[in-house]
Amino acid sequence: MPLLRRDDRSILGREETLRSWLVKGRDPIIQEIDGLDIGWGGVQRWATARMADVGDGLHLDFACGVGSFLAQLGWRFPEAHLVGLNIDFSGPHEPVRELLSRAGVKCLLVRADARRMPFPDRRFDSVSCFLGLQDIEIGFGEEGLRAALSEAARILRQGGTLTVVDEFPFDKMDRLLERLPFRTVGRAEQSLDAKWSRPVAERAVELYADGWVDQMRISESHERARVRVEVLRRMRSEMERQLAVQGYYVPFGPARMVEARKIR
Ligand SMILES: C[S@@+](CC[C@H](N)C(=O)[O-])C[C@H]1O[C@@H](n2cnc3c(N)ncnc32)[C@H](O)[C@@H]1O
Repeated sequence: MPLLRRDDRSILGREETLRSWLVKGRDPIIQEIDGLDIGWGGVQRWATARMADVGDGLHLDFACGVGSFLAQLGWRFPEAHLVGLNIDFSGPHEPVRELLSRAGVKCLLVRADARRMPFPDRRFDSVSCFLGLQDIEIGFGEEGLRAALSEAARILRQGGTLTVVDEFPFDKMDRLLERLPFRTVGRAEQSLDAKWSRPVAERAVELYADGWVDQMRISESHERARVRVEVLRRMRSEMERQLAVQGYYVPFGPARMVEARKIR
């Protein structure tokens, strides 16, 4: 019997219900900013529609954060056996269990560092990472990023597919994967369906700058403040550029998806 792969229409309604729950009672600006976490302006639906079929295989989503891509995977591939890995499930990631339960998606959550995944070799049929590579790089540099991708290669079975979605240019992904046992089988790019006004954009870049310094795990308060000022300056300058050129702010992207098959 063919395995079920749900279509976009049935997923859209699920996204809306989950988003309403996530932002309920918040002020309207925060509703818009945090609401983006569910679906990421259509990019999650776009990615799961294009990626290799997960079917009923064992699938790992690493750097799963609050689990919105896991929810999306569970909606698209209802027969998949899902595992989510994140370095912690506290702070902004704390609602992950409730989010997945409200999404109706079953998933095993593992708290671990993607640079040292607690799984045996070739355990998974497929692996994904949605907007996690950039956070690993912010916290642990390119060396950390390479370690996480090398772990993804180790725990994936031969013939299995790694799907990553991030902002990185394609040539950077090529460089990161070049010494690993992968063959790139797909690349695609997609813009976010999000057009934020100035008040939303201004609040968002403040929050994103906080998130950035949190990911850097800087404990010394002066250094934290210094880095935050620098990150915020960069984000504001991009925000002003977009507001001047197009009259709205798109907080991320374009998103680039790379699919790589494990060849040995
Ligand atoms: C922006 S979130 C990714 C979004 C998420 N995939 C989703 O669907 O909602 C990035 C996540 O990477 C996690 N992270 C950063 N470094 C990590 C590491 N070394 N190992 C595992 N997770 C890590 C962060 O805790 C954060 O939750």
